Amino acid sequence: EASKKSSYEITTLTTWLLKQEQAGTIDGEMTIVLASISTACKQIASLVQRAPISNLTGVQGAVNVQGEDQKKLDVVSNEVFSNCLKSSGRTGVIASEEEDVPVAVEESYSGNYIVVFDPLDGSSNIDAAVSTGSIFGIYSPNDECLADIADDQNNETPLSARVCLQLDQVEQRCIVSVCQPGSNLLAAGYCMYSSSVIFVLTIGTGVYVFTLDPMYGEFVLTQEKVQIPKAGKIYAFNEGNYALWDDKLKSYMDSLKEPGPSGKPYSARYIGSLVGDFHRTLLYGGIYGYPRDQKSKNGKLRLLYECAPMSFIVEQAGGKGSDGHQRILDIMPTEIHQRVPLYIGSVEEVEKVEKFLA
Ligand code: AHG
Ligand code: MN
Ligand code: MN
Ligand code: MN
Repeated sequence: EASKKSSYEITTLTTWLLKQEQAGTIDGEMTIVLASISTACKQIASLVQRAPISNLTGVQGAVNVQGEDQKKLDVVSNEVFSNCLKSSGRTGVIASEEEDVPVAVEESYSGNYIVVFDPLDGSSNIDAAVSTGSIFGIYSPNDECLADIADDQNNETPLSARVCLQLDQVEQRCIVSVCQPGSNLLAAGYCMYSSSVIFVLTIGTGVYVFTLDPMYGEFVLTQEKVQIPKAGKIYAFNEGNYALWDDKLKSYMDSLKEPGPSGKPYSARYIGSLVGDFHRTLLYGGIYGYPRDQKSKNGKLRLLYECAPMSFIVEQAGGKGSDGHQRILDIMPTEIHQRVPLYIGSVEEVEKVEKFLA
């Protein structure tokens, strides 16, 4: 199809979204939510690029609910993301890495969609101008998630922090929640702030890649129906944690370093930004892993706004996302900021690590 286009014809994210809406793949509310996320990403891209000039490097001074030192740009990006979603008028609930509990959109005219996001991923890289990103996932509210307040009396973590946002005082139950497995995701994507600004999106019909054209200020469609290679010779793990891993994982890692029939072992690549490491894995094949270890029993990455959206994307591209034993998208979250081990990438590479861990 691309060859039939005249050289002046481009598909922007906006026109692509409108086409999807016309085709009935997404509704008007989803179109607006996705458009407002892309606006947030453009704004964050510009803040990230200008950070050293506008004094936006360094730490903010606060610690987020997960015990991480917040960078100034973590806080600013969270605000930009939330504001864009709130002002879209089409989002009901937002849950962010940088917020303690999910936030209801208070505006009198708000929509239904639940958006989970990591406003700035890889923020430890930000002061060195290394790639970072934003990750998001979109759910519908789910009645099956209604939880009884009665269940809540004996629990240490309040229900609101675990799964829900508002309590319906009459019905005495949670009426809005994000306690849904990734398999319920309607859309997921990320924006990578790198040598190019890349917006990757799936609405369940394959993976589409858009590149920010600095001349037009628009995301332009640059790759459609991306397929991840079935296997790949690149691995991305933080091997500094090797001594803390269990023996099965150590032998997997050792096996990658043995030159196979080709006489060449795997190559190591690790940025320390999930978005950057994932994007390379999507295009070149291979595996990204963040295992559990002696210090972090569930690994480091968060199920709701890191592992699940990336797993939806990778599956849409023909790859696999696993916690080492089961499909990430099947895991039912019990807490907003729940962490899980992650192995993601080419099917054959993820199945290989699963065999070692079995
Ligand atoms: P965030 O910056 O959103 O807190 O996420 C950081 C994550 C992820 O981006 C990255 O893959 C991983 O942390 C790197 O962790 P290590 O520094 O432990 O390797
Ligand atoms: Mn963080
Ligand atoms: Mn992150
Ligand atoms: Mn983050």
